[in-house]
Amino acid sequence: MNVLILGSGGREHTFAWKIAQSKKLTKLYIAPGNAGTKEVGTNINISATDFDALKQKCLELDINLIIVGPEEPLVKGVRNYFEADSDIQHIPVIGPDKVGAQLEGSKEFSKKFMIKYGIPTAAYESFTNETYNEACKFLETLEAPYVLKADGLAAGKGVLIINNLDEAKESLKVMLNGQFGEASSKVVIEEYLDGIEVSYFVITDGDNYVLLPEAKDYKRIGVNDTGLNTGGMGAVSPVPFADEVFKNKVIKQIIDPTVKGLKSEGIDYKGFIFFGLTNVKGEPKVIEYNVRMGDPETEVVIPRVESDLLEVLAAVPTKNINKVPFSVSPLTATTVMMVSGGYPEEYEKGKVMTGFENVTESLLFHAGTAQKGDSVVTSGGRVLAVTSYGANKNEALKKSYISAEKINFEGKYYRNDIGFDL
Ligand code: AMP
Ligand code: GLY
Repeated sequence: MNVLILGSGGREHTFAWKIAQSKKLTKLYIAPGNAGTKEVGTNINISATDFDALKQKCLELDINLIIVGPEEPLVKGVRNYFEADSDIQHIPVIGPDKVGAQLEGSKEFSKKFMIKYGIPTAAYESFTNETYNEACKFLETLEAPYVLKADGLAAGKGVLIINNLDEAKESLKVMLNGQFGEASSKVVIEEYLDGIEVSYFVITDGDNYVLLPEAKDYKRIGVNDTGLNTGGMGAVSPVPFADEVFKNKVIKQIIDPTVKGLKSEGIDYKGFIFFGLTNVKGEPKVIEYNVRMGDPETEVVIPRVESDLLEVLAAVPTKNINKVPFSVSPLTATTVMMVSGGYPEEYEKGKVMTGFENVTESLLFHAGTAQKGDSVVTSGGRVLAVTSYGANKNEALKKSYISAEKINFEGKYYRNDIGFDL
């Protein structure tokens, strides 16, 4: 079959790398892709949200399956667009429709869903400018730190955690007055969950699901989880504290009721679900849902999948994923994200990258790179995910760090303590 992947980051390069190995694959395309994806497929210079242009390309290239990487096309309704058009409705889109995508696109929607289906999560209330005074009263009933979340998508920046009550009230006012545009015209205030985070992932066809390996990512820019939040600076899979007992709680209390709940809501969810959880004294609680895979979690989760990923995804439209063989490697995978100097604040692009040919022990997944003449250059904040396997976390990390040393570009930075807390 001919497959089109939408997106341009490390997650999409990892999908492309995996799917390129499938026996079911005829041709692989990535829109828009990056300098890494073009090594395993063909890049198409179309934005993942330009649905009209995607339609024309899909017809021209006889695409049989679309895999959506990022949330934006899903929240904007890429699946609805394809399903509503008789020319292209035969092309299945792996990803939820607009309503299903609200699990990520609206914090309030996802909180209401969790409460309705008894899924453990932090207590919350949501407020707008009109209810600012009530919001302040609600904050007074909570203990510090205070968690304020923009209701809508804010490029991963819409969550503020504040230690002081007066500051929290002030920040709330700023948020409601447009700090994150329309996304923060409504704000969810939540109970703070104290614990260590871990993420679980499934692929669901709406009836059945396949459980992917879990992972932990490292979001802060600085060592010891300090400094500004980023898209993710590295990841580890498996996560040692997520043992069988914990996993069974996650399945029973969170994953099963989510998949069943979506069906009861009449949402024909097809695609990935990302469960961002906190382990609060041995009990899993949901921090957030995402309607896609994580990045850089994908760069450790997918390399541990031994089965043919395309075979699994190709069984989604007919609701047969439970019939496809699925196995996971017992090895540990780690990834270290190399980023541009200055990220997540201002940084420069277009820096020439060298040393790829010297890396022998790791997989290199391009995140923000572009081809310029004969050179690969940086084109984003997060540049390259360096993934390695090992018998344990330390063995895998050692390889990732040796490889990261060999890649050079002006201003390169990475955290040297991924996995420090496990
Ligand atoms: P989110 O965008 O909902 O994933 O939130 C971003 C990050 O904020 C999470 O990964 C957590 O580290 C933190 N966070 C979100 N909600 C809470 C909460 N209720 N308690 C503690 N930390 C939280
Ligand atoms: N690494 C976190 C995310 O993809 O949302």
